[in-house]
Amino acid sequence: MVGGQGTRLRPLTLSTPKPLLPMAGVPLLEHQLTRAREAGVRRIVFATSYRAEMFHEAFGDGSRLGLEIVYVTEEEPLGTAGAIRNASEALTCGPSDPVLVLNGDILSSHDLNAQLAAHRKADAAVTLHLTLVEDARRYGAVPTAPNGRVLAFVEKSPNPPTNQVNAGCYVFRRSVIDEIPPDRVVSAEYEFFPALLADGAVIIGYVEAAYWLDVGTPAAFVRGACDLVNGAMTSPVVSGAEHGVLVLDGAFIAPSARVGGGTTVGEGVRIGEKAEVESSVLFSGAVVESGARVVRSVIGRGARISSGAVLVDVVIGDGASIGPGNELLNGLRVWPGVELPPMAVRFSHDA
Ligand code: GTP
Repeated sequence: MVGGQGTRLRPLTLSTPKPLLPMAGVPLLEHQLTRAREAGVRRIVFATSYRAEMFHEAFGDGSRLGLEIVYVTEEEPLGTAGAIRNASEALTCGPSDPVLVLNGDILSSHDLNAQLAAHRKADAAVTLHLTLVEDARRYGAVPTAPNGRVLAFVEKSPNPPTNQVNAGCYVFRRSVIDEIPPDRVVSAEYEFFPALLADGAVIIGYVEAAYWLDVGTPAAFVRGACDLVNGAMTSPVVSGAEHGVLVLDGAFIAPSARVGGGTTVGEGVRIGEKAEVESSVLFSGAVVESGARVVRSVIGRGARISSGAVLVDVVIGDGASIGPGNELLNGLRVWPGVELPPMAVRFSHDA
């Protein structure tokens, strides 16, 4: 499932779909693809819509990853279940075989084979991976009976009945996909799963509280990237991280600069003397000049952070330029190509 527009991650997703954003040196999606391959998956159908051609450019026929990848593109986005129905034209398995469906923006280390085993054991129509969160209000809560059967789907409720939430990874019995209404927008969470439940179908929750992150927002994007670099989330395709920093080819870090906390320093990035970069993602070609401070932020391709600027919890679009002495905080987003003059934005009382 890779057709979403990724609106919450703008401006990063204006030029690149969320599943293709670089995370610890490779597209976000590549971490899940390689985990699926390690679990025994060999053939993957991409349900594309937004900027569909970019997926083909990134992964081609899949042979680079030891997978067979085929693409089915929606003319108009069909929603999470509509996309599954539409992509099913490319499935080759039999009607009772299991089909694994993965959201393209999840980092998860749960055991795909254990989920599959739970599905087979219950002879379920659908088996959902459920993860445990502290506060389920932002998620789809999914209460289950002691035998694992799903009792309800409670989306983004102020009073969720459980802290088990839909983790965006499903196993469908192949024939069940044909029950999704064709050729129109259908949401899995709001429409199809509740309808299936009302029809009495066996829907199973497979609960596993392994590392799990929905990479939907800038804060989650930064956290996921840092977790991959720090090793809190393991991925077969992350290598070369040392002392909490991943430095990619051609990057230069001045000796007096301090860089850490899971930061990714992208290809060709330059970090000047006495600059401080903490728990951040610097896309290729970004420049952090001397004495600048960057914390929990994403710096887009080729963007420039001038001397003495301070950035905490912000997103800087590709090619933007932040003049000296600016202080940007608290979720602020700068659009690609914007040039912020010196001292244009400050939050401190001493400004
Ligand atoms: P936001 O706009 O920030 O909510 O992000 P999003 O567009 O990615 O939506 P969301 O996070 O809810 O999507 C979950 C997963 O489903 C992601 O992997 C999306 O790429 C995918 N997805 C969402 N809508 C569609 C769709 O209409 N078609 C296809 N093929 N995939 C979709």
